[in-house]
Amino acid sequence: MLPTKLAAYAEDARNTIRYWRNSALTRIEDPQPLEDGPFQDYCWPVLRTTPLGPHRAPPDRTFLDIFESRRSTRELGPAPIESLVDVLRLALVPRFWRDGDTLRRSRRPALSAGALHPISVLLFADAGVYRLNADESALEELNMKPEVRANWLHKCKRVLPSADGAFIALIADRARPAVAYENYESLVWRDSGALLQTLALAAETYGLGFCPLGILGNEIVDSLPAAAQLLAVGAAAIGLPG
Ligand SMILES: Cc1cc2nc3c(=O)[nH]c(=O)nc-3n(C[C@H](O)[C@H](O)[C@H](O)COP(=O)(O)O)c2cc1C
Repeated sequence: MLPTKLAAYAEDARNTIRYWRNSALTRIEDPQPLEDGPFQDYCWPVLRTTPLGPHRAPPDRTFLDIFESRRSTRELGPAPIESLVDVLRLALVPRFWRDGDTLRRSRRPALSAGALHPISVLLFADAGVYRLNADESALEELNMKPEVRANWLHKCKRVLPSADGAFIALIADRARPAVAYENYESLVWRDSGALLQTLALAAETYGLGFCPLGILGNEIVDSLPAAAQLLAVGAAAIGLPG
């Protein structure tokens, strides 16, 4: 190879390494536990709260069958809201609470750093935008501007044109992770992955299709009051498999 070409490759490599070094993503510091400090939960703009009724049990299938059958499904049709809520409940509702814990640590099917479960699932269905309030076992209809909802649905459909079901956004409330850990951010991101996998398995359990989306939901957070307390950490499509 010509020495000039070799020199050019070497310069390219040096530039790439320089870019990585300068990039904020080169290194993320380890989280460090803090004394649990005071915090203020995010106050969601709720229009209506509906307590969850009896939970409909999923069809009887073995865990191995569900585990092996789960695949991302991109052809999706609308599913009844009751079925969507069944999936969210299976994935999100706490099975145990830690006694007397100010940070409301709980045990659920998903892994979560420090058992904090800081991520809310917002469901964008035909009838409106909902948040499953897992702590209170209630479905909250959120007050969201119609254009924010429409733009979000449009963006999701651009990513997954064959999905005509509902879409979800994963939105973390930083309040509790921030008082429980220094450098808490990476924990929230890892929680997001664990939650996506759990939601996918819960959807499969109820015979619904599910596909994560690469987009995050920043425009939803930007439209909400006190947005700086929230972090958009993922999205997915969910519905009847086509
Ligand atoms: C964080 C994340 C983002 C994803 N984004 C998309 C996406 O934007 N569009 C899409 O079609 N699939 C997306 N997927 C699904 C992957 O493509 C899929 O999981 C992968 O191809 C493996 O296939 P399987 O889920 O059927 O096993 C995403 C998956 C993850 C975990």
